[in-house]
Amino acid sequence: MELEGIVAAVTGGASGIGRALARRLSQQGATVAVADLDGPGARATAREINGLGVEADVTDEAAVAGLIERVERDLGPLELWCGNAGIGGPAGGVELSDEAWNRFWSVNVMAHVIAGRLLLPRWLERGSGHLLVTASAAGLLTNLGNAPYAATKHAAVALAEWMAIAYGDRGVRVSCLCPQGVRTPMTSADGDLAVEQVRALGLMEPEEVAEAVVEGLQADRFLILPHPEVAAYEQRRAGDRERWLAGMRRMQRDLGMEPPGP
Ligand SMILES: NC(=O)c1ccc[n+]([C@@H]2O[C@H](COP(=O)([O-])OP(=O)(O)OC[C@H]3O[C@@H](n4cnc5c(N)ncnc54)[C@H](O)[C@@H]3O)[C@@H](O)[C@H]2O)c1
Repeated sequence: MELEGIVAAVTGGASGIGRALARRLSQQGATVAVADLDGPGARATAREINGLGVEADVTDEAAVAGLIERVERDLGPLELWCGNAGIGGPAGGVELSDEAWNRFWSVNVMAHVIAGRLLLPRWLERGSGHLLVTASAAGLLTNLGNAPYAATKHAAVALAEWMAIAYGDRGVRVSCLCPQGVRTPMTSADGDLAVEQVRALGLMEPEEVAEAVVEGLQADRFLILPHPEVAAYEQRRAGDRERWLAGMRRMQRDLGMEPPGP
């Protein structure tokens, strides 16, 4: 897609990858609306890039509908929606409460369902629109020590694939961003083994991720992998699942991350 002159929205744009992406899209000539639960943070990013900063919870359908209305009224037709807001904690397994699991589902999966529900009718009518889903390498592989993150990011990848197939011949494009570790507040928590595992693999800067996204969007690519090694890991997993699982169990043992059991 062409980014110059379009209107884009970036959720989770107050921080980390979303903020870097909003800045990079603006440099590319897009007018950018920045949305986040953190209203002052969203407005701070927007001020820097002469965009529109809005406080919004991506799991609240009425709030997202209001955001889309406002962006289209004030800035023009939304061509690109970057569903980037996400949560990574609390880490754990099946012992986590339903409340914790439901929060992961709402933010990491249902927010994309809501955005699709609201934007697809407009985009199908116009015959164009682009949805970027920020999933994770955890959505293609796994995240040791963090079952809800791995499960919801797999669901986000599956949903993005489904929409790419369902609407790809009708002018709507979908891209799915699957980075490994990126240096943001999400990966800065101390004493969290799941985060330490990600950090141990090395962290990329959010600006490098934003660069990969711009390149992927310009090429209309579905899968955007800022860490190219993730493609090889995914092939290994698909090629021999038993061997891959054994390797992951070994890594979990070596890192001292075996869960205590519910
Ligand atoms: N940092 C990494 O290593 C990494 C790797 C792979 C994928 N990701 C994904 O990238 C995305 C951005 O993460 P980040 O690392 O920049 O984290 P971050 O914590 O710096 O930013 C996430 C932003 O999302 C916002 N947010 C959370 N819930 C929200 C909600 N309900 N409504 C609106 N905004 C909400 C937060 O306020 C925050 O500003 C997430 O989807 C994350 O899962 C991160």
